[in-house]
Amino acid sequence: MKKSLSRIALLTSGGDAPGMNAAIRAVVRSAAYHGLEVLGIMHGYEGLINNEFIKLQASSVANIIQRGGTILKTTRSARFVTEAGMSRAHKNLKAFKADGLIVIGGDGTLRGARDLGTKFNFPVIGLPGTIDNDLVGTDMTIGYDTAINTVVEAVDKIRDTAESHDRLFFVEVMGKDAGLIALRSGIAVGAEAILMPESPTNIEALIEKLQNVKRKKSSKIIIVAEGDKAGGAFEIAEKVTAKVKGYEARVTILGHIQRGGTPSCMDRVNASRMGYEAVNALMKSKQGVMVGIVNKEITYTPFEQAVKHIHRLNPELLKMLEVLSL
Ligand code: F6P
Repeated sequence: MKKSLSRIALLTSGGDAPGMNAAIRAVVRSAAYHGLEVLGIMHGYEGLINNEFIKLQASSVANIIQRGGTILKTTRSARFVTEAGMSRAHKNLKAFKADGLIVIGGDGTLRGARDLGTKFNFPVIGLPGTIDNDLVGTDMTIGYDTAINTVVEAVDKIRDTAESHDRLFFVEVMGKDAGLIALRSGIAVGAEAILMPESPTNIEALIEKLQNVKRKKSSKIIIVAEGDKAGGAFEIAEKVTAKVKGYEARVTILGHIQRGGTPSCMDRVNASRMGYEAVNALMKSKQGVMVGIVNKEITYTPFEQAVKHIHRLNPELLKMLEVLSL
């Protein structure tokens, strides 16, 4: 073990994600196992600036592995991206004698981690915590699996009523920059079309598809990622229903129910593995990397690479959807 490492600071930042608590638990328990102290920081980077440090022991994280949200709370901090805010954050880490920092969050969180680590040569390790699954260097971010299962459960219910009424539904799911929630859940619910920011949305082609079906269907479901370039579900529904005859249309925005709830088994296990490995990484003097899992193996991806927004959308999946939604 690296001698100089005795105290680790830990925070969650950005949008919360189911499984963050499992990751917090894993970090705290792994650190305790190695005789390291853990300082939890409340409210993410904002709390780091405001000195909201609390001591976390093995017992502090009892009975949280199954809970959604984050016991450390979270914010999107505008102050942290300023020079003054980041310097204050670093000063506070030093004042509390933290030798390393573990952050759990999405791309904004990891960008902040990259800047803090580089500017002050401070050891920071990141864990991918976001329902969006839009980070490079892990097959699944913490929270993604739970979120897509929440979407599937909700859309299955929508399908029941859509079938009964012969309706066309536009269901908006989260993902302002990424369509991975839309893509996976759309396939799982047998959607008729999936619209997402990564692939250009052609409204005319969608209208054509809805009109020229090979067989008359009693319901149709279009999954719309909130960041789709053609607009949100309401806007798209308006454009489409003006021209598609024979279906009454309805819009459902699933919203923040996608971010809450009991984490799935997959998210709990991934979060536990990643939290455990984050402590190991600091002990091995690693810094400036995100811990991920690729093909079931632990990986370390430099922050710069992790936040690149190269989404691994498999075009074959969209082609498959066309065939399967005949
Ligand atoms: O980053 C996760 C996410 O849920 C996105 O999918 C969504 O666009 C955004 O956060 C919503 O953020 P907020 O809760 O701050 O409105």
